[in-house]
Amino acid sequence: MAVIAIYSVKGGVGKTTLAANLAWCSVAQSDHATVLWDLDASGGAGFLLGASEHGAKQSTTLFDADRDPRRLVADTSVANLRILPADEGLRALDIKLSRIGNRSRISRIARDLGKDYTRVIIDCPPVQSELSNQIIRAADLVIVPLPPSPLSTRAFAQVSKQVQAASKRHPPMLPVLSMVDMRRNLHRKAVDEATNWPIIPFSSAAEQCAVRQQPVGQFARSSATAKGIDTLWNAIEAKLSAMEIG
Ligand SMILES: Nc1ncnc2c1ncn2[C@@H]1O[C@H](COP(=O)(O)OP(=O)(O)OP(=O)(O)O)[C@@H](O)[C@H]1O
Ligand SMILES: [Mg+2]
Repeated sequence: MAVIAIYSVKGGVGKTTLAANLAWCSVAQSDHATVLWDLDASGGAGFLLGASEHGAKQSTTLFDADRDPRRLVADTSVANLRILPADEGLRALDIKLSRIGNRSRISRIARDLGKDYTRVIIDCPPVQSELSNQIIRAADLVIVPLPPSPLSTRAFAQVSKQVQAASKRHPPMLPVLSMVDMRRNLHRKAVDEATNWPIIPFSSAAEQCAVRQQPVGQFARSSATAKGIDTLWNAIEAKLSAMEIG
């Protein structure tokens, strides 16, 4: 089982769009039993995958008592892709986690999900907090989307520092250039400088995910965006294999 977190301290960088699309790749390309765990109170991941909001009100109860998270998992519009949905209560989760005082609550829940799923993909909120520290400790791999900008480079430095501080055996990070527009000088320069980083183009196909409530792979299979996401997914699976994580 592998836990993959899509995380940045910066908002609006494409985390949710990537999380939903990578979860689709996990099911459709790699045939993994996959659950997308939405830990952002705004619930964007569930919306992108056409998940019903019915039942999403209970997710935070997961942290109140020893509930089996697998009982809160719901269907999405994608066959075989499940979601552990967000609810508004997540906004107060940091206070709750501090009160509970257990620094590995997220890891425990992830381990329980691992009884049924081989890939747990976490959509993170753009905050640096006890919650994000716990997510980092639970993760085998942290994907950090970075639109080409000096502000993103700064955000990456912050995330790197946080990941290293979160635990002694911190997970590897995979930076991804997101929302890349090759018509722009700054973006071309960023692509030249970050030679090995996967690239997700800025595209209407990516934006359309929110309109169609579907992953790009389902409606624009041959687009550059779908190919960029496929390449990123393959890089993730290769990294997990190299780490000897099934
Ligand atoms: N590759 C892309 N090309 C064009 N638009 C994109 C791309 N990726 C995401 N978007 C759009 O950018 C906006 C922000 O994307 P998204 O919600 O995925 O970011 P986020 O990092 O999860 O934001 P937040 O921090 O608020 O949770 C959305 O309107 C989305 O449709
Ligand atoms: Mg988001």
